[in-house]
Amino acid sequence: MPRIALVTCRPGPEIAVDRDLPVLVRALREAGAEADAVFWDGEQADWGGYDLAVLRSTWDYSWRAAEFLEWAERCGKVTRLANPAEVVRWNADKRYLGDLAEAGVPVVPTRYLAPGDGADGLPVDHEYVVKPTSGAGARFAARYTPDEHDTAVRQLARMHAEGFTAMVQPYVKGIDVSGERALQFYGGRLLHASRKGAVLSPGTPYDERKVAHPGLEPWTPTPAELAVAERALAAVPHASELLYARVDLVDGEDGQPRVMELELVEPNLFLSLHTGSVLRVVEAILAAAE
Ligand SMILES: Nc1ncnc2c1ncn2[C@@H]1O[C@H](COP(=O)(O)OP(=O)(O)OP(=O)(O)O)[C@@H](O)[C@H]1O
Ligand SMILES: [Mg+2]
Repeated sequence: MPRIALVTCRPGPEIAVDRDLPVLVRALREAGAEADAVFWDGEQADWGGYDLAVLRSTWDYSWRAAEFLEWAERCGKVTRLANPAEVVRWNADKRYLGDLAEAGVPVVPTRYLAPGDGADGLPVDHEYVVKPTSGAGARFAARYTPDEHDTAVRQLARMHAEGFTAMVQPYVKGIDVSGERALQFYGGRLLHASRKGAVLSPGTPYDERKVAHPGLEPWTPTPAELAVAERALAAVPHASELLYARVDLVDGEDGQPRVMELELVEPNLFLSLHTGSVLRVVEAILAAAE
């Protein structure tokens, strides 16, 4: 009987409930595995006692990144961790978009402003987004018109004071028309896809809570979306070791899909929208545990 840990985090006021977790625990048990939901920072957890630890919903990690990455490294030494610690380390910092761009993958154009870099050169002729390089749930993300320069500078100052590196991107207008598509891969092939509406409304303060998945619905990916997603995945270091991946795409000015985010740490699978995917996830997890 394979022993599988589905790794999550402690509930808290800022933490969304992982609806995929109980579904997967139950389905793995029904398939004959021993499956536990385990807190990544739990002191009692015996990681070496599992055949496989699958990162499921460690949704507090972006504000404890150093601690989490150290844990992932330790965990990966005593059991098989999926995705592997080195993939997690690479993906935990959105500077990976620069690596993808260098590999020729179409991405949302991005500038990085680290603490100490100041706030010079914010766009003056188009709307833009400021967000952290290690974020989730649109935390600390906001959009600005050139008129709102001073507010953007205040956000940058606050982020820099808290040690965050900021990303500056053009506001991708296509998202208001065709939304954002999330293509989910599991066990090396497409699992399912979803689409959601735009998250950032004009004038919403960066520190306000956002609705993370407005209007989420199932989506059939286009050939162009599949092609970009596959190119992005091929550019991931240790790509052959991925158990799962989510590629988020938006349409650029040319109408072609661009990578907004590549989520290789703890993707929400939205299984309640895609109930037919549960067994395929279970099969891929069991195969990885062998
Ligand atoms: N350049 C952009 N143009 C338009 N909208 C953007 C842009 N960047 C971010 N957004 C909006 O903000 C949301 C959150 O941004 P992003 O996905 O990069 O960060 P995140 O915090 O990692 O999100 P999550 O983990 O919840 O997907 C996106 O889903 C999108 O709606
Ligand atoms: Mg996102």
